[in-house]
Amino acid sequence: MSKNHTTQHVCLAGRSLVGVGDLSRPELDHLLSLTKTLKAEKKAGKLGDRLRRKNIALIFEKLSTRTRSAFTVAAFDEGANVSYMNANDMHVGKKESIPDSARVLGRMFDGILFRGYAHRTVELLARHAGVPVWNGLSDEEHPTQTLADLFTVEENFGTLAGLNLAYVGDGRNNVACSLMLGCAKLGVHFVNCTPPELLPADRLVEQARALAAQTGARIAIEHDPLKAVRGAHVIYTDVWVSMGEEALFNERVTLLRPYQVNADLLQATGNAEAGKLIFLHCLPAFHDANTELSKRTGAMEVTDEVFEGPFSRVFDQAENRMHSAKALMVATLA
Ligand code: CP
Ligand code: NVA
Repeated sequence: MSKNHTTQHVCLAGRSLVGVGDLSRPELDHLLSLTKTLKAEKKAGKLGDRLRRKNIALIFEKLSTRTRSAFTVAAFDEGANVSYMNANDMHVGKKESIPDSARVLGRMFDGILFRGYAHRTVELLARHAGVPVWNGLSDEEHPTQTLADLFTVEENFGTLAGLNLAYVGDGRNNVACSLMLGCAKLGVHFVNCTPPELLPADRLVEQARALAAQTGARIAIEHDPLKAVRGAHVIYTDVWVSMGEEALFNERVTLLRPYQVNADLLQATGNAEAGKLIFLHCLPAFHDANTELSKRTGAMEVTDEVFEGPFSRVFDQAENRMHSAKALMVATLA
């Protein structure tokens, strides 16, 4: 994972991560490289104290399994203390303004992970806390997911630049937008395959294309899944209905059913052989009727055949949330 541009001096101390655009290419490379080191250390049974005596707040407006677990375990592994807080139990944004809450939390905690609805909330927290604030998912972005995603791709292929990644599904959601920016930054060709109703904001596509112009990545929008995945090394999908959009289930199922990731779509890559193709999903996933909700609504973005099949790396990807969260906290706090 070491490349020429990683040799530049990188210092992320004191920095927040609100969106993928906050990180330069060398900074992103540095985080991926540190993730690799920390993962290897953990596998060798070596844990450190790089975050000893740090106090970390984990604040959630929305549900979470991976993000909460990843930051908790990562923090404990390196000697930090964490406090989980459900935003519903706090004054933030209700009886107290976000800048006021941010300043209070920043006087007590060394770092703050925040998952919420409005992107503006995490922007304000980062602006006013005076300590690193990490966006653990907002309606617009999921940058800590992108760190694990890019790391998982690199872990599988040994490289990133020049690979083809096809994201198939809800093209305007947080995961898709952060991934598009991350791919653009690291030279990964990115196709966002989505219906015309679910396009990412023009502003983000322009931002991604400007970044891609520096790395040689191509950023494309495509409506036809069979065309979009041709030559893909990575097929990525996410749920059709994100948290906070539950009223849209029926509409989304109708729009996105033709975008389901299934065995035919993998074949259409022309790369469906060991070592040439992987399937990723940030999780949680609806794969066939694996939950009551997917059974009732018909929302199934991936078939069991793919999810459980030989190209799937979704549980490595989930584990990598922890190693990459650790790298982010170590780099910004230590
Ligand atoms: N991928 C992800 O962010 O999962 P959680 O919602 O479980 O945190
Ligand atoms: N797009 C999904 C991601 C969940 C990790 C959501 O926002 O619900």
